[in-house]
Amino acid sequence: MSRQLLAAAQAVRGVLTGLSLSESLDRTPPALRPAAQALSFHAMRQLGFAQTARALLVPRRPSDRLTEALLLLGLSLLEASQRQSDGTAQPPGTPLYAAHTLVHQIVQAAESDRHTRPAKNLINAVLRRYGRERTALLPQILATPLACWNHPDWWIEALQQAWPQHWEAILQAADQPPPMTLRVNVRQTSRDTLLERLAHAGITAQPVGIAGLILDRPLPVRDIPGFAEGCWSVQDASAQRAGALLPLQDGMRVLDACAAPGGKTAHLLERHTLRLTALDSDARRLERVDENLRRLGLESPDVTLRCADAADPAAWWDGQPYDAILADVPCTASGVVRRHPDIRWLRRAEDVARTAALQTRIADALWPLLAPGGHLLYATCSIFPQEGESQIQAFLDRHADARRLPAPGQILPGGADQGDGFFYALIRKPENTAL
Ligand SMILES: C[S@@+](CC[C@H](N)C(=O)[O-])C[C@H]1O[C@@H](n2cnc3c(N)ncnc32)[C@H](O)[C@@H]1O
Repeated sequence: MSRQLLAAAQAVRGVLTGLSLSESLDRTPPALRPAAQALSFHAMRQLGFAQTARALLVPRRPSDRLTEALLLLGLSLLEASQRQSDGTAQPPGTPLYAAHTLVHQIVQAAESDRHTRPAKNLINAVLRRYGRERTALLPQILATPLACWNHPDWWIEALQQAWPQHWEAILQAADQPPPMTLRVNVRQTSRDTLLERLAHAGITAQPVGIAGLILDRPLPVRDIPGFAEGCWSVQDASAQRAGALLPLQDGMRVLDACAAPGGKTAHLLERHTLRLTALDSDARRLERVDENLRRLGLESPDVTLRCADAADPAAWWDGQPYDAILADVPCTASGVVRRHPDIRWLRRAEDVARTAALQTRIADALWPLLAPGGHLLYATCSIFPQEGESQIQAFLDRHADARRLPAPGQILPGGADQGDGFFYALIRKPENTAL
């Protein structure tokens, strides 16, 4: 257990130094990875609480980041166990240990690494003190929004302003583990057939959307039949909406402008036979589009992958207009913090305006590429209006010919289909527009 705790603390240290949690976990030895992931996800979801508690107990932030990470991990785990003992049920999957075992194992973990060894006694003393004085400390800790909501102050304030009726529910949903949702590849199988196949393997699921299945219990991909055969992909219910929103017909010329890793590209191709260009500015991510299309049996001479900047069509566009464009633009990913609990700690307030400016450049650059009568679907997995509703209002103001059609607009996380936070706007270019 102490090796798992140390591996998790190393992943937490990665985030404290600016790496994404998945990048940090990629460095974890495979045998330790599942446990390190569960532990570090928990630490991310309780990081505001743990940081506030740490600041009260050790006013000077430890200079060594691994020592800090181990302390934060220990405090977050200790608190979860205490809440469970107090009768407050913890979210499914929360790692729970008896307090004395936990403290002992954290100290063992500290002993086992040269960075943390000098702070072994400090870590032991802090965790034991927290155990003894928790009742007195809790009101002070929970008086801060950071500890109460486990998000940075700027993020909480942005949500309060944008969603005065919903911000608390949004923040609570962010700390619930998300469901595992599959998208059935209807070119390979039907949803009913896959449901039967899953049932034979003892897996139960509920239909969602046009081709989705929410598993009653998340499982490793390898334990679900049909993946290698391309019968399904993992894709959140909100992300699956894109496939049905863009009005497409076989034979259309389509641009997926920010395509990688290809979840929505594949969905479009599962539903229609298209002349499609999948564009992305990140060559490594574009390789994943290729892998996914191959696995799903969707590669075709009519599907082209292109590494290029969507905001600079002069560098790659052949001058032929598109019947439909999907612009699933880069965003702050504020709608998917359930799946990526580190995002909130890595983003800075100024990233929202910076990302929105990039989205504006991409949307404006793509608009002239759309044929008269064509449709642009703008999508983001963000819940900040600067990247959604305000972005689209400003787009409509700049492009007098753009007509907005019905589409979900802002989807808040954890709604009826348990999907992520997303924003969709569907915009049509009238037939009589000059190119
Ligand atoms: C939200 S993700 C796309 C997810 C994808 N549509 C899917 O469903 O799997 C945004 C993508 O935009 C890409 N991107 C960022 N800036 C870009 C640009 N200027 N031009 C094209 N792609 C860009 C990123 O590399 C990233 O893969």
